[in-house]
Amino acid sequence: MTRTPVTVTVTGAAGQIGYALLFRIASGQLLGADVPVRLRLLEIPQAVKAAEGTAMELDDCAFPLLSGIDIFDDAKKAFEGANVALLVGARPRTKGMERGDLLEANGGIFKPQGEAINAGAADDIKVLVVGNPANTNALIAQQHAPDVPADRFTAMTRLDHNRALAQLSKKAGVSVADIRKMTIWGNHSATQYPDIFHAEIAGKNAAETVNDQDWLENDFIPTVAKRGAAIIEARGASSAASAASAAIDHVYTWVNGTAEGDWTSMAVVSDGSYGVPEGLISSFPVTTKDGKWEIVQGLKINEFSRARIDASVAELSEEREAVRKLGLI
Ligand code: NAD
Ligand code: LMR
Repeated sequence: MTRTPVTVTVTGAAGQIGYALLFRIASGQLLGADVPVRLRLLEIPQAVKAAEGTAMELDDCAFPLLSGIDIFDDAKKAFEGANVALLVGARPRTKGMERGDLLEANGGIFKPQGEAINAGAADDIKVLVVGNPANTNALIAQQHAPDVPADRFTAMTRLDHNRALAQLSKKAGVSVADIRKMTIWGNHSATQYPDIFHAEIAGKNAAETVNDQDWLENDFIPTVAKRGAAIIEARGASSAASAASAAIDHVYTWVNGTAEGDWTSMAVVSDGSYGVPEGLISSFPVTTKDGKWEIVQGLKINEFSRARIDASVAELSEEREAVRKLGLI
């Protein structure tokens, strides 16, 4: 039986993450090896030609699951009928730009994109915001899509989650496949908190197994939280293939479910769980099933974790206040 293609809209399609992401979507890694996809790409007018070049290459791969590609420089058209939207394109911070300037510039992108999603996306739309500052950009888009359930707007902390798995696996000398229940709390920024107190290595508590507070505080947490900056320093450009890979993981897990006995990290709209103010888009441990996510409840949060979660959440509250003052939400 031929399945109806799923419409996937990708913004920033001509950028470096876009280039690493589109081929994986078209090959079936985003939704499943039996799910045909139709791509709708959004770019700014100056980058449409480059997006057309990428579309030519996508054609040249002859992916059996790719049923069509359309390219737009108009958000309203790009999100028409979208079932999945990957909001990658954003205004990068440039020299001399204050945080307020960055939030304002991105408000100019994510407000109309939220409105376009509200106006024309499919009823089952799922949105992942990758473009930074991802949590607050997701909040801006969500606030301008009043007819779309708020739980459809998420921001990406799966890259941080994957980075934490990699660092812990090296320290413990195990495969990442042996680690379960990693958590990233808070903002996708240097204040994020990668939490191993609930993580398990081969079924045993990870913090107890590693038993190294100095490594935890002075190596693991700063390495994960500042990895984005370290990649920029080393590569001369921000992470691209790993960010694309994490976006694939995020959507695949959201659609296809978390494994029994495990969870993932997603920045989702807070319902007040774990003292995170309602409405903020903050990273939590979540399970997914049948295309829906749920925040894992009932975890005991120790003092060490509490202080770090609170610090990252305070930053998110400040960002929300800043975009409120700018009239963006
Ligand atoms: P890039 O500069 O290579 O590409 C961005 C693309 O977005 C460009 O082609 C640009 O033309 C396009 N764009 C800009 N405004 C647009 C708009 N209004 N509509 C559509 N397209 C638009 O950047 P990149 O390396 O691909 O990174 C994209 C974003 O992802 C950045 O904000 C980056 O900081 C962020 N990022 C997030 C994570 C995460 O974990 N959440 C990780 C890595 C990067
Ligand atoms: C990352 O975590 O790699 C990026 O968010 C860094 C950045 O500022 O683009």
